[in-house]
Amino acid sequence: MYQPAITATGVFVPPDAISNDDLVAAFNAYADRFNAAHSDQIAEGEINPMEHSSSDFILKASGIESRYVMDRKGVLDPDRMYPALRQRSDDEPGIMAEMAVGACQKALAKAGRTGAEVDLVICAASNMERAYPAIAIEIQKLLGASGFAFDMNVACSSATFGIQAAADMIRAGSVRRALVVNPEITSGHLEWRDRDCHFIFGDVATATLIERQEDAAQGFAIRSVKCATEFSNNIRNNNGFLRRTRPDGLADRRDMQFMQEGRKVFKEVLPLVSAHILHHLEAEGVAANDLKRLWLHQANKTMNDFIGRKVLGRDPEPGEQPNILQEFANTSSAGSIIAFDRFSDDLKPGETGLICSFGAGYSVGSVIVERF
Ligand code: COA
Repeated sequence: MYQPAITATGVFVPPDAISNDDLVAAFNAYADRFNAAHSDQIAEGEINPMEHSSSDFILKASGIESRYVMDRKGVLDPDRMYPALRQRSDDEPGIMAEMAVGACQKALAKAGRTGAEVDLVICAASNMERAYPAIAIEIQKLLGASGFAFDMNVACSSATFGIQAAADMIRAGSVRRALVVNPEITSGHLEWRDRDCHFIFGDVATATLIERQEDAAQGFAIRSVKCATEFSNNIRNNNGFLRRTRPDGLADRRDMQFMQEGRKVFKEVLPLVSAHILHHLEAEGVAANDLKRLWLHQANKTMNDFIGRKVLGRDPEPGEQPNILQEFANTSSAGSIIAFDRFSDDLKPGETGLICSFGAGYSVGSVIVERF
C-alpha cells in the first residue's frame, strides 16, 4: 500500500468577469422587456410581472460580489441571457478540455511534473459537454498522459469524490500519478432569467495532482476521504439525452436548467454536512481544534459560517475557513479546491486541514490532509 498525497493544484480563471451590478442591470432590462411583451396577460392577471433583482440582495443572501464566465456578452444580452460559445470542429479541443488543460498545466508546473508522468485523468464535473468520448480521454491526449481516463459526475461534490477514487487507486498501486480535474461551465446550465438564482454560479477549472507521498518532496498527505450521498430533488436539472423523445422535451423548459429549492437546501444540507464532517473527524481521531484550516464548498457565505461554527464549536478565526465565493461565486465542484489552492501554502509540516464539498444528490465528500 502506498500513501497518496496532493502535491499541487492549479486554477484556470476564465477571461470575463461579471459584477453584481452588471448582472442586475442585464436582468432588469430583460424583466422590463418581458413585462412589456406580456403587458396584456399581466393586465388580465394571467401571469405575474417579473420583479427586479438587486445587488444588495445578492450580496446579503449569498456573499457573492462577482463571478467569472467563459462568455460575458451572451449572458448580459437581455435578448439572449446565456453564453454564446464558438462552434468548434471535432478535430480541435473542446472548451471543457481546453479549460481543464489550463488548470492541469498549472498544477503540473507547480509540482515540476510533465503530463507524460501522469497515468490517470479523472474529469469530475457537474456537467459534461457531450456524452462520449469522455472529456477525460481528450484531456489525457492533450496532456500526453498514459494509462487511462474517465469522466464522473457527482455535481458539486465531484472534486472530492474524484480525489477519493484517485487516492484509492494510488494507495492500491494500480496507478502512480493522477490528475483530478474539474472544468465547470456553470454558465451553460444556470437559468440567467430566474431572479431567485441568476446570481449563483460562475465558471472556472481546477486540477488536483495526486501522487505517492514518497515521490514528492512536499505536499499534503491524504489521511482519509469520506463520501456520502442521500437522494433529494431539491437541486435538479432534467436535461438529458432522452429530451427529444418526450412530447415537449425540446421546448424552452425551465427544468432543463439548474433548479433548486434554495431554502430547503439550506435547511437540509447544513446539518447533513456538519454531522458528516464531525463523524469523519471522530473516526480518524482528529479533534476539531487540531484542524488548521477548513476549505469548504463555496455556495453561500452564511452556510459556510454555520458549518465552521458547528465543526469547530466556536466562531472560526479570520483565515481559518477562507471563502473565495465573493470573487468566483459558486463554481460547483471547483470551489473548495480554489480555496485550497489559494490558502494552503502557509501550513507547516504536521498541520492538518479538511477539504469538504457538498451539493446536489445530495452529496458530501470530505478529505483530511496533513502537510509534509
Ligand atoms: N433580488 C431581489 N430580491 C430577491 C431576489 C433577487 N435576485 N431573489 C429573491 N428575492 C426575494 C424573494 O422574492 C423573497 O422575497 P419575499 O420575502 O418578499 O418573498 C426574498 O428575496 C427571500 O428569497 P429567498 O429565496 O427565500 O432567499 P434566501 O435568503 O433563501 O437566499 C439563496 C436565496 C439561493 C441565496 C439561498 O437560499 C441559498 O444559498 N441556498 C442554498 C444554495 C445552495 O447551496 N445550493 C447548492 C447549489 S449547488
